[in-house]
Amino acid sequence: MTLPSKVKIVEVGPRDGLQNEKQLVPAAVKIELIERLADAGLTAIEATSFVSPKWVPQMGDADAVLRAVLASPRRRAGAAFPVLTPNLKGFDAAVEAGASEVAIFGAASESFSQKNINCSIDESLKRFAAVVDAASALEIKVRGYVSCVVACPYEGAVDPARAAAVAQRLYEMGCYEVSLGDTIGAGTPASVQRMLAACAARVPMARLAGHYHDTYGMAIANIYASLEMGMTVFDSSIAGLGGCPYAPGAAGNLATEDLVFLLQGLGIESGVDMDKLLAAGQFIVQHLGRAPVSKAAQALLAKRSAA
Ligand code: HMG
Ligand code: MG
Repeated sequence: MTLPSKVKIVEVGPRDGLQNEKQLVPAAVKIELIERLADAGLTAIEATSFVSPKWVPQMGDADAVLRAVLASPRRRAGAAFPVLTPNLKGFDAAVEAGASEVAIFGAASESFSQKNINCSIDESLKRFAAVVDAASALEIKVRGYVSCVVACPYEGAVDPARAAAVAQRLYEMGCYEVSLGDTIGAGTPASVQRMLAACAARVPMARLAGHYHDTYGMAIANIYASLEMGMTVFDSSIAGLGGCPYAPGAAGNLATEDLVFLLQGLGIESGVDMDKLLAAGQFIVQHLGRAPVSKAAQALLAKRSAA
């Protein structure tokens, strides 16, 4: 079995990580975090969400955050800052702020779709098709998400065929990549590989990404299991921040520091500078007043302070 030689990381901390924070984080802190992450070499950073501020108050400053990041003199050429847009209203606002990449987010489970975006899976796909059409007219790239690909917080285990069916719809609609979300982190290498086999039968593996929350500590094992199946794009969150406000109890995504440590150990290129990444993690956890949940970050920082 050969593992890929190169992996792309999609940093979702500023969005998936911070959206779950109860205490409002100032836009200036979010902007500084995104700039530090870009400076660490991350080339895809999900910056914010153009969702209803009544549903997710933390993302209420989406316009200010995206505009500042795009206008920053520290902006690196080639870095992408996708933003979540659940409908045309969000898409129009994102375009107004200068977005050149957006993400639509559906689910493999009806209950989660209702709780998260207040509509059925079919209705969500109709809304997403309108977003994809509007985006293609403006040459804006669209990424797709499928949540609850392994399990749903309301319905329990999810049949891999249901995840694959939604992934296929998003791909055929025009998403350049479909990120498979283990929203509540209940997957294990066996269930994740079953789910990936079903999805890869409908969407080329090169167009799939793994988005694994770490609720049960399985995310790193699930990444390895996905690498074994040839997956080369993974979402992760700086310092392991986050969760989904509509998935009670779900922890953050796999910490980016843990992912980079794994990739370094496997000799897989990611283009990320660990020192700058650790500093970005320190910056945000100090602001939030807590320690990083990343074990790699804790160990590396302890080693550095002892040296
Ligand atoms: P709704 O209430 O059904 O929407 O919410 P509506 O169309 O009936 O509109 C109601 C109000 O919301 C109106 O305002 C609209 O203008 C406004 P009012 O007249 O009451 O003042 N509205 C908006 N405002 C700003 N931006 C918008 C927007 N759309 C309508 N885009 C809606 C439907 C989708 C808007 C709502 O359910 C929502 O915002 N949900 C977002 C939930 C969310 O952000 N969840 C977390 C992200 S997903 C996630 O974390 C999972 C992921 O990480 C993958 C994984 O882990 O599995 C991606
Ligand atoms: Mg998520």
